[in-house]
Amino acid sequence: MDANKKYNALVTGATGGLGTAMCIRLANDGFHVIANYNSEEKAVKWREKMKEAGYEFDMYQCDVSDYNAVHDMIQKVEAERGPIDVLVNNAGITRDGAFRKMTPENWDIVIKTNLYSVFNCTRNVINQMMDRNYGRIINISSVNGQRGQFGQANYSAAKAGIHGFTKTLAMEVARKGITVNTISPGYIATDMVMAVPEEVRNKIVAEIPIGRLGGTEEIAHLVSFLASKEASFITGANYAINGGQHVY
Ligand code: CAA
Repeated sequence: MDANKKYNALVTGATGGLGTAMCIRLANDGFHVIANYNSEEKAVKWREKMKEAGYEFDMYQCDVSDYNAVHDMIQKVEAERGPIDVLVNNAGITRDGAFRKMTPENWDIVIKTNLYSVFNCTRNVINQMMDRNYGRIINISSVNGQRGQFGQANYSAAKAGIHGFTKTLAMEVARKGITVNTISPGYIATDMVMAVPEEVRNKIVAEIPIGRLGGTEEIAHLVSFLASKEASFITGANYAINGGQHVY
């Protein structure tokens, strides 16, 4: 690949806590960032906030759980911005609750948003990456996909599925200059984690040897590292980044 080329990086779920940090870090590290979002309302506020911070990202709306919508978005992005070199499958939601009470709706929406999205986005960029003999796919899983968590049967299933996907795809595309990796963050200071009842959250933080929640920028740093050209021998890996909460 051309050493002076500005690589395009598409981040899904860009307006969330982790997504925001990833966009900023990737931009600071010289990538041309394309920010995917779902909610228009949230996106308007985010765009303003980013502008105040000195960033103007190209933004594309799409519900990543919808295959056809993703297909259309990727076509549009490629037509308007050029090929996608880096895909960060970051979009995700929670619908926590004990399994005996979990509704089919809360099962479906989490599996579709957190796992189908990874298929939908990756499937729509992979052939172009293979044609160009270059690509970086970074899938955001979770400590709770590695070890399970009370109240997250849906989320843990989706997040564990992500790493199975990573391992297989990594093998299939390794000879085409494409790396596929998983990052499994622990509890990071985002709205998603802050939505966990305080009492429960305090107990969780007490289990983290480092003694605090992770920072979004700590995950973003790893994303940018895996997105770099230099990370070309790392593939099929799962990076735990959880303050020592789950060590195995
Ligand atoms: N371990 C064992 N038992 C537990 C428990 C736990 N962690 N939590 C609750 N229970 C027990 C309760 O005491 C209760 O027992 P009784 O019936 O005997 O009273 C029973 O299980 C059922 O409890 P609830 O009726 O309160 O269950 P609920 O359906 O309301 O669910 C919950 C509770 C929403 C799961 C709540 O415990 C919770 O929010 N847990 C945290 C989940 C979590 O960590 N989510 C992570 C979100 S952030 C994220 O996902 C990002 C990431 O990747 C890390």
